[in-house]
Amino acid sequence: MGWVGTSGSGPMSPKGESGSSGRSLSSVFLDERVYAVIAMIDWVSVGARVRRVSVLAAATLLAVGVAVGLCAAYGFLIEPHWIKVRRIEVSREPTLRVIHISDIHYKGEREYLAKVVATINSIGADIVCFTGDLVEDAEHLSEGLEILSGIRRPLYGVPGNHDHLGLSHGQAVRQAFRKTGGDWLVETNVVAMVGALEIVGSSGRAARIPREGRKEARKRLLLTHYPDAVGGVPAGAYDLMLAGHTHGGQVRIPLWDRPILRHTVLPCDKGLFRTAAGPLHVSPGIGTYMLGVRFGCRPEITVIGF
Ligand SMILES: [Fe+2]
Repeated sequence: MGWVGTSGSGPMSPKGESGSSGRSLSSVFLDERVYAVIAMIDWVSVGARVRRVSVLAAATLLAVGVAVGLCAAYGFLIEPHWIKVRRIEVSREPTLRVIHISDIHYKGEREYLAKVVATINSIGADIVCFTGDLVEDAEHLSEGLEILSGIRRPLYGVPGNHDHLGLSHGQAVRQAFRKTGGDWLVETNVVAMVGALEIVGSSGRAARIPREGRKEARKRLLLTHYPDAVGGVPAGAYDLMLAGHTHGGQVRIPLWDRPILRHTVLPCDKGLFRTAAGPLHVSPGIGTYMLGVRFGCRPEITVIGF
């Protein structure tokens, strides 16, 4: 473009045409043709640059679209059913081993829940603990309980915010849990394993937890749906506390590792936390809520020695 802009004061100027420089008319016409060709080359060059930028932009958009599509396919189709088994120990010489699961949100995915049960049955542990949110809709309750009754360990549990479905449903859940040798604990406690363990179940956000432990139990375990329920628990009251509710955020950005779909109680979003009351484990859950998506936050069966 710079070439075209200089033509007014260059060889095509009126001064040149007047013949004072002694150039012939044919020479002037030749100059015009040369400048026309140069201008055309310049235009073609700019066009090529614009086309290159357009192609680059289109390729970038395509790559971003493909990446988003792949992430979405992974998040909706693969990760929600890709179970992780994680093992942790909270004491130097554990004497008990508990399997912790939470937030099943059973919506009829029979094959998936059967896989969860089969995985649990393949792990050596003393008991299995569930910290709330069995179903979102009562119509799936009996099928979900039927599958869970296949757990070959005593299954203890507490209700979550989705499990307050009515008295008859509560009784059905209690019966199913008792069939495994465990119990459904709503503001109550039991001593299990021949006095080895007291299990306390709290369903509320403001935990109505027995302050005094049962003297015959050697260790104390608290089950609660809400991680923040442990805030009012006296120091050193429990050997282990288990909670759910957060789903770990369900969607987390890798490396940054922060929850995106927040249904969470920060900073206790998932994992093991040391609190004044004792070690607290917050499960990222088994199922999903709202969107059937998980990304960077696989469903987890946690095996905890304490
Ligand atoms: Fe939940």
